Amino acid sequence: MGKIKPLYEGVRLLCVITTDNHIDAKHSVSPGIPLWFNGRALKDSQQSKTPVDVFLTIGDTTSRGSVENWELVKGLFAKYRPAKQVLLTVGNHDLWADGGFEEALKNYLDYSNLICGTDHEKTWFSHTVNGYKLIFLGNTTDAGCEAHLGREQIEWLKAELDAAEGRPAFVFCHQSLNRKHGLPVTWDASGKSEDPLDGGLGEESDEVEAILKAHKNVFYFSGHSHMGIGGENCLKENGYSSFENDGGVELVNLPSMACGNHHGEDKSTGVGCVLEVYDDRVVLRPRNFAKRAYNGKVMIRDGKPYLEKMLDL
Ligand SMILES: [Fe+2]
Repeated sequence: MGKIKPLYEGVRLLCVITTDNHIDAKHSVSPGIPLWFNGRALKDSQQSKTPVDVFLTIGDTTSRGSVENWELVKGLFAKYRPAKQVLLTVGNHDLWADGGFEEALKNYLDYSNLICGTDHEKTWFSHTVNGYKLIFLGNTTDAGCEAHLGREQIEWLKAELDAAEGRPAFVFCHQSLNRKHGLPVTWDASGKSEDPLDGGLGEESDEVEAILKAHKNVFYFSGHSHMGIGGENCLKENGYSSFENDGGVELVNLPSMACGNHHGEDKSTGVGCVLEVYDDRVVLRPRNFAKRAYNGKVMIRDGKPYLEKMLDL
């Protein structure tokens, strides 16, 4: 228990990462439940010993992209100053509204720009913060639970990673790559999904994966499955975890902040991750924002309760 505090001196970039926040005016029990968990994360971030550079979500900030839900998100972010910059990835739930995809897209762009002080015209954009690229991917059409990025965005992703020139780059996309993190089995609590594409990016996944693998020091973050945090024991027992290295790319899948989680080793809600970037390494620390405590139980890699990745410089 205690405030957010980087593991080492000399942190160059500090981000608080949450996903599947699912703020929901029509929550089946009470809208206060997701508001409480997300409020804890915002407050924890605000009170960090070292000021947080970016507070971000990896999509499904709302359970449905209605004005009613976005008003709740706006109100929540108005109560706290969690970081110098807030950025909200779009998720499939954010693009569902009674008036259809176009209405939901407009609500996402209007409200996320208002909350974040940005002027994004698309669901995909990048920000360079303290010299590091943060790249956000997003749907361009209503693709159900999958993503549909489109040719222009895929070419843009490649150009963005080329421009990073091997410096660590952080990609945020609601959906994980296909078949990672135990997909499709971990797609839902039943574990019965058989379609190999279930829960993943979809048809464009292999192309995105090839682009990521063609670059050094890439970290790809997703949510979407609502899978609990799994580390190296989960990897040993089940062949998957929340932190997987594939072809040099670090793939990170985070649990839902406020809905129930399944699979993995720690199914708690209120859990996200703190990203610390140093000159020679990146540290990723799962944190229970509701309890104001870093993960101490789930060993992520090399017997440590966090991922410590030396950079290829
Ligand atoms: Fe979700």
